[in-house]
Amino acid sequence: AELMFIGEGPGRDEDLQGRPFVGAAGQLLTKMINAMQFEREDVYIANVVKCRPPNNRNPEDPEAQACLPYLRRQIELIKPKVLVLLGAVPLLHLLGKKGITRLHGEWSEYMGIKTLPTFHPAYLLRDPSKKRETWEDMKIVRDYLNGLK
Ligand code: URA
Repeated sequence: AELMFIGEGPGRDEDLQGRPFVGAAGQLLTKMINAMQFEREDVYIANVVKCRPPNNRNPEDPEAQACLPYLRRQIELIKPKVLVLLGAVPLLHLLGKKGITRLHGEWSEYMGIKTLPTFHPAYLLRDPSKKRETWEDMKIVRDYLNGLK
């Protein structure tokens, strides 16, 4: 996959099915992927933590640190051209940065791979007014990937 999305961690539906982003947030993520003219099968979807934190709380730093080697290996194997970070949790644990509202849509690098943070789809479900900015971010990624062809 040229494009890899990194979320936070499995929620209830994901925990039950053992697959990332299969619940309500996942349906919105699929729509975003399709709007970029990709299919879900074309992209790789992973999470910072691999187990569901109790009551869907944010993963704590030691939990993220425990899972990061696994995520890094996934990135090494997939070798995507672009990483999209979904929300504040991957922004914090991969790039060590806070402030998704300020930093979304700005290119960065992780493991030598171009990396762009945007809002988490679950956040968009709570605040649909952020969908427009998220789509602008996704167009940056789409245009970059199309430019490589
Ligand atoms: N939210 C996430 O961050 N990851 C999932 O896999 C599902 C919901």
